[in-house]
Amino acid sequence: MSLPKVFITRPLPQAAIERIATRCAVTINPEDVRLPAAQVIEACREVEGLVASGTSVSAEVVEQAPHLRVVSTVGVGYDNIDVAACTRRRILVTNCPGVVTEATADLSFALLMAVARRLVEADRYVREGHWRQWQWGCMWGTDLAGKTLGILGFGRIGQAVARRARGFSLRILYHSIDRPTPEREQELWAQYVDRETLLREADFLSIHVPLAPETNHLISSAELALMKPTAFLINTSRGKVVEEAALVEALQTKRIAGAGLDVFEFEPQIHPALLAMPNVVVTPHMGTATRETRLAMAMLAAENLLAALAGQRPPNLVNPEAWG
Ligand code: 8YV
Repeated sequence: MSLPKVFITRPLPQAAIERIATRCAVTINPEDVRLPAAQVIEACREVEGLVASGTSVSAEVVEQAPHLRVVSTVGVGYDNIDVAACTRRRILVTNCPGVVTEATADLSFALLMAVARRLVEADRYVREGHWRQWQWGCMWGTDLAGKTLGILGFGRIGQAVARRARGFSLRILYHSIDRPTPEREQELWAQYVDRETLLREADFLSIHVPLAPETNHLISSAELALMKPTAFLINTSRGKVVEEAALVEALQTKRIAGAGLDVFEFEPQIHPALLAMPNVVVTPHMGTATRETRLAMAMLAAENLLAALAGQRPPNLVNPEAWG
């Protein structure tokens, strides 16, 4: 019997490719670039399995891939995949929760600290030769201890951010559709509040919701208007959760004090005004970009793929309606 054909959209770590190649005939996009839709369609015509990383899997792709049985995405978010189109064809969609949690929470916290203590601005100040003498008034930032961290979305990553915040003596408020048990809330020192209270009280607002129609522009002018003028916004979730033009306006009018952003509404394009602001720290969608995490993601994506192709229910099935 011939091996099932699989297409991998990015050059993943060798160990993951080898694992897949033990049971599949693998084709890989050798370049770490986003493939145009036409090339994804072409590459998927004959395959049973698709490992998608940083690639959009539209209904058009799905409809022109008659043999496709599984789309294994290398990440926790699956807003880049038309899951409904996959479900209609009973194509299984899998993702990589769990393994991305700690690295993403680390980056959220790194951005929080970077904006609070003006790290990037200070680095630039020194490198550009402005530091001539110690000065009392140089680079004043914001304390973390005693301040309030508002966490919007309290799933795995939001909770991992809360765990870090405890160590910095932050008061932790959260708002989320799903609430953990009271024991877990207590363990994390986290208190549930309504969305408005969260926005009003946060000195740092960190966003950890998935992108869905209900969370598109969840933070826009009305929400930013509720925030403190001294507050900072941190986003490592998805760019479209925040209406970027509204954020720019809030920053320009000093409605809020600054932002730490890893994701952008139209990434990789970034509103030029954000790039000109010293109180905004930007990173290139790299929440999971550590050696350990990227390897774990690729290995998990491989396991999800292989299980599905072997006719087993994959461990991280996104669309259980397509199963059975
Ligand atoms: C990926 C991510 O880099 O896990 C996620 O949801 O945003 C990142 O880990 C991205 O999904 C591209 O595959």
